[in-house]
Amino acid sequence: MKDAKELLNLLSHAFEMEYNDVFLYLREAERVKRKLRDGEKLAKMFEEFSMTELRHADRLSSEIISLGGKPVWKFAELETESSIHKILDKHIENEMHAYNHYKKIMGYSMSKDFELAVSGIMQNEKYHMEKLIEFYNKLELRR
Ligand SMILES: [Fe+2]
Ligand SMILES: [Fe+2]
Repeated sequence: MKDAKELLNLLSHAFEMEYNDVFLYLREAERVKRKLRDGEKLAKMFEEFSMTELRHADRLSSEIISLGGKPVWKFAELETESSIHKILDKHIENEMHAYNHYKKIMGYSMSKDFELAVSGIMQNEKYHMEKLIEFYNKLELRR
């Protein structure tokens, strides 16, 4: 059994990542609507992802509290990429990073209930990654 303090740190980091994505997806949804031809579709996808990340953050925060921690999110300047390709690239990287981070979390001992929640979150992040890659490839074809 690994250290509970370590798990709490990993959960806190996950919480921050989720919150950053909640805001980043929302902000970029607005941008792609304006900038991109057929931007509506991607904007909808980003808005949907933002809501999912919000649910993840919510589940993490209750777990952090139940472990005696305090969920904290510091508002930081969010960096937005300049092109649609870069925006997608960045999110693909973030989703992959999140997926791997949760995989690491799964190595710790936790309640059955939370374990199920984390494996559900991992499935969501994988789905996000696949959808982003799909959209990226379609953009490439249109170039
Ligand atoms: Fe997430
Ligand atoms: Fe995600």
